[in-house]
Amino acid sequence: MPNPSLLILPGDGIGPEVMAEVRKVIAWFSDHRDVAFEVAEDLVGGAAYDKHGTPLADATMARAQKADAVLLGAVGGPKYDKLDFAVKPERGLLRLRKEMDLFANLRPAQCFEALADFSSLKRDIVSGLDIMIVRELTSGVYFGEPRGIADDNEGGRVGTNTHRYTTEEIRRVARSAFELARKRDNRVCSMEKSNVMEAGILWREEVQWVHDEEYPDVELTHMLADSGAMQLVRRPKQFDVIVTDNLFGDLLSDAAAMLTGSLGMLPSASLGAPMENGRPKALYEPVHGSAPDIAGQGKANPIACILSFAMALRYSFDLGDEATLLKGAVEAVLAQGLRTPDLLGEEGRDAVTTSEMGDAIVAALGAG
Ligand code: NAD
Ligand code: IPM
Ligand code: MN
Repeated sequence: MPNPSLLILPGDGIGPEVMAEVRKVIAWFSDHRDVAFEVAEDLVGGAAYDKHGTPLADATMARAQKADAVLLGAVGGPKYDKLDFAVKPERGLLRLRKEMDLFANLRPAQCFEALADFSSLKRDIVSGLDIMIVRELTSGVYFGEPRGIADDNEGGRVGTNTHRYTTEEIRRVARSAFELARKRDNRVCSMEKSNVMEAGILWREEVQWVHDEEYPDVELTHMLADSGAMQLVRRPKQFDVIVTDNLFGDLLSDAAAMLTGSLGMLPSASLGAPMENGRPKALYEPVHGSAPDIAGQGKANPIACILSFAMALRYSFDLGDEATLLKGAVEAVLAQGLRTPDLLGEEGRDAVTTSEMGDAIVAALGAG
């Protein structure tokens, strides 16, 4: 059996900086465990635009389709703000998600004990927090047609996006959420706006249908997404798995990030249907962006990207023990008090650099 293949797309801004630390972790696993990957690297986002005039070359798309897993850093930045919409860095990422059909985006928010005092919420609200947001990733208002900006024939313009979901799009992401719940605390909360949107009514009905027909053993509740946002910061530990649409999931997961202390802590896995070899099509990426405000300064927290690799070990390669080992190493360095500036607040005294944090995590993995 050849080694499984990993395609690394570092992207822009802090993307390459945090990915360099993931590479150290990958090297540790190949040196100390029988876990070796064929690693290839390519361009995405602004970096791809600079070289090819497109945020994702067709050849890169083809490599991503064939890889056993893709790891992505982040895309975007002020340098590309004025580009035509069609070639903006973010379009490269959206094309990967759409063409690989990565419909289930798993965004776990866990509060490490060492950071419980650093969250913007009180310790007892977040201590022990462990929730999983399942965000639908290939449909909804991100992709619905019609869309665009046009003249309104009255001297003004009109911008249009369409929030649209089909039965099957809702059912398949609901199944992902119920499957995950069965391996956790067996509870799913579905969030939509069925009080104002037809697509929200369909969402609620179809999630309920999947529950009643296929997962009656899992506890299912429904919440309007605005109220859900409020509950997420009021009493986040009431949730186990949250399933929601593309846009609500984007917003709710950034909010959930702050429960854990920093956006620099939150990993994600974007999963599609199983390939011939039984592995799901998969792309792993931190929830954060390219952080132009700190790029190039050694200030980025690499933990979100490293934990995204831990998710790859678990969800693509069935290496749950190795994923747990890596998470344990992250927990250990946080317990030792190592902090990148985002985990220190205003003063940022005694912060470690991106690279020092990566080195410490590798050291915590041990001699093997
Ligand atoms: P952002 O996530 O890049 O940054 C928001 C804030 O969080 C910034 O203050 C940043 O310094 C901080 N931050 C983010 N990640 C961090 C880390 N690992 N360590 C320490 N601090 C971190 O969001 P933004 O500023 O709104 O967007 C910047 C660019 O990134 C935009 O072009 C946006 O489209 C893009 N973006 C890309 C992705 C992605 O590639 N998946 C996700 C979100 C935003
Ligand atoms: C994310 C980002 C992306 C999104 C952008 C960069 C396309 O915010 O991954 O959360 O909106 O999905
Ligand atoms: Mn986002």
